[in-house]
Amino acid sequence: MSVKIKSTGSYVPEKILTNFDLEKMVETNDEWIRTRTGIEQRRIAADDQATSDLAYEAAIKALEMGGVSPDEISAIIVASITVDHMFPSTACVLQKKLKASNAFCFDLEAACSGLLYSLEVARSLMYTNKRLKYILVIGAEKLSSILDWEDRNTCVLFGDGAAAVLLENCENTSASCIIASDLGADGNYTDILQIPAGGSRMPTSHETVDQKLHYLSMAGKDVFKLAVNAMVGSCQRVMAEAGITAADVKWLVPHQANYRILKAVAQRLNIPEENVYMNVQRYGNTSAASIGICLDEIARGTLAKTGDYVLLTAFGGGLTWGSILLKW
Ligand code: ACO
Repeated sequence: MSVKIKSTGSYVPEKILTNFDLEKMVETNDEWIRTRTGIEQRRIAADDQATSDLAYEAAIKALEMGGVSPDEISAIIVASITVDHMFPSTACVLQKKLKASNAFCFDLEAACSGLLYSLEVARSLMYTNKRLKYILVIGAEKLSSILDWEDRNTCVLFGDGAAAVLLENCENTSASCIIASDLGADGNYTDILQIPAGGSRMPTSHETVDQKLHYLSMAGKDVFKLAVNAMVGSCQRVMAEAGITAADVKWLVPHQANYRILKAVAQRLNIPEENVYMNVQRYGNTSAASIGICLDEIARGTLAKTGDYVLLTAFGGGLTWGSILLKW
């Protein structure tokens, strides 16, 4: 048996925020943002759009592409650091919107590695239970809701968006299968990427709000180095497991955090830049959604053909990391 990607979908909000718009909000400039990150613009959700609303739009597209109806979905997993509520899960909120009444639902939190963690969890569930025919995996974020729009160190880097990947449990190995994977984490670095307050460690109070402790905080330089090492090691393990080399990879699809990180990973792996999928210039870092949006663009743009190897790799808060190899 095997688990294949039946279809994909993605959605980004209409509102575009350019680097020039940001110049009017914080002390920054287009040149700094472009040369340090590669980002030119990002999308920002409307005030009345929550993460589940973005997820819904992406999910509908994936279901339409796959020709699968919501009541055929066995499970919904939502990866996000910007869930609608602390509880209930955003997956349950999405289930109601989709009317996917036969699905069990849960959220998975692995920051920017969330989509890859969720795909691997879904794959494992499908291996142990053949009755799970379709699992809908979502990466969705309204990061604009957790950014300090007065902090130029973080607010220029992120954007909103959502992606959906519909997995199918297959009897035989077929096209677009997951063939190898690697997941990892290092809890020694929980403090370099986090939202300090709002959980049980530091419950919400007037003080935490006044001190801006509900916003995303990040030690950018530390993250940079750790990210490159984590993704390179993870990709190497996956390629070794599958018995392929960098020369076999048609597309390397790294988490879209910063084009310099992407370039450094590709260089260390000996993968030419033209084989690295990049859309960070259009959307910024959309955390759990980023790899899924790339995957959907590759699928809809027919940029990969049957048999091509597509290597997905991510890192994020936790720290967490992971890689998945697909045979298209
Ligand atoms: N505009 C202008 N200047 C800025 C800005 C800005 N938006 N942001 C920071 N600066 C200044 C800083 O204040 C600092 O000034 P100083 O030297 O006077 O103190 C200087 O620029 C820092 O510049 P560099 O050292 O050149 O910055 P660097 O090359 O490290 O780039 C960056 C910073 C882009 C944040 C980089 O470190 C990075 O991308 N790190 C990884 C971040 C990342 O990927 N985060 C996502 C994690 S994924 C997740 O889980 C959410």
